[in-house]
Amino acid sequence: MDLNLQDRVVLVTGANRGIGRAIAEAAVAEGARVAVIGRDAAAGEETVRALGPERASWHLCDVSDEARIGATVAEVADLHGRIDAVVNNAGRFGGSPLAQLTPEALREGLDTKVVGAMLVTQAALPHLRRSDQARVLNISGITAQRIMPGVAVTAIANSGMVTLTAYLARELIDDRINVNCLMPGYTLTGAWRARAEALAAAEGRSFDEACQEILRRQDMGHSRWGEAREIAEVAVFLLSAQAGFVNGASFRVDGGQFLAVQR
Ligand SMILES: NC(=O)c1ccc[n+]([C@@H]2O[C@H](COP(=O)([O-])OP(=O)(O)OC[C@H]3O[C@@H](n4cnc5c(N)ncnc54)[C@H](OP(=O)(O)O)[C@@H]3O)[C@@H](O)[C@H]2O)c1
Repeated sequence: MDLNLQDRVVLVTGANRGIGRAIAEAAVAEGARVAVIGRDAAAGEETVRALGPERASWHLCDVSDEARIGATVAEVADLHGRIDAVVNNAGRFGGSPLAQLTPEALREGLDTKVVGAMLVTQAALPHLRRSDQARVLNISGITAQRIMPGVAVTAIANSGMVTLTAYLARELIDDRINVNCLMPGYTLTGAWRARAEALAAAEGRSFDEACQEILRRQDMGHSRWGEAREIAEVAVFLLSAQAGFVNGASFRVDGGQFLAVQR
């Protein structure tokens, strides 16, 4: 299926690794040009080399730094001449039990995901309004809907992404900008690989056993890990012309993890 992303410009936050990088790869494979946003310049430059410098550009920006966002979005628009889509993916999984949670940790989580997504979208609006296939895609997580003790920061931020999506979609409807949201389940990106390797070393398990054990400890039953590519394939569909009638929706992409029985 041709997703009609040829020469569309897609800005992806947190695209220098993990799910964001997989979305950048999938968008480039569909013919898009991608602006890779993140904090780690070495990883960003390596990502652009891998994607092909003629199809991708690297932009250093901490999305919790309000002062930096406008300049970064302007840099992307100047370089590529347009912005058709924004993927608000920056964020990371984690937190601590609520009894130990600090206000700073909660603010940092919200600033990166919800506030960052709002500011990047606001900055990109003049460009999105000029596109005939304008899309905003917010990356949340199943913790928006499924209680998993110990990850409240991520979960609160993820719930905010779902609500932000609905409000943006409604308020931008006359601008013909479609805003949707994905809620990935457990996806085996770098940070999770590192945790599984540490667990495997500490408990004398194989890597695969350690991965399964992490899911078991989160009451995930017999579900499997997702791959970043599996999230990315749904993401690029939502950026496509074919998804033109999808607006204001939040989708779980979790292989059924949400359905696993909770204690
Ligand atoms: N993996 C999962 O199981 C899972 C499940 C549900 C939802 N998610 C969500 O999916 C998204 C990607 O997760 P992932 O697993 O791919 O994580 P990851 O491998 O840790 O990558 C996180 C990305 O976000 C970027 N980032 C973090 N804070 C940032 C900031 N303040 N400014 C700019 N960039 C920032 C990182 O860039 P730097 O490295 O440059 O900081 C990195 O590119 C996150 O929003 C996460 O909450 C992941």
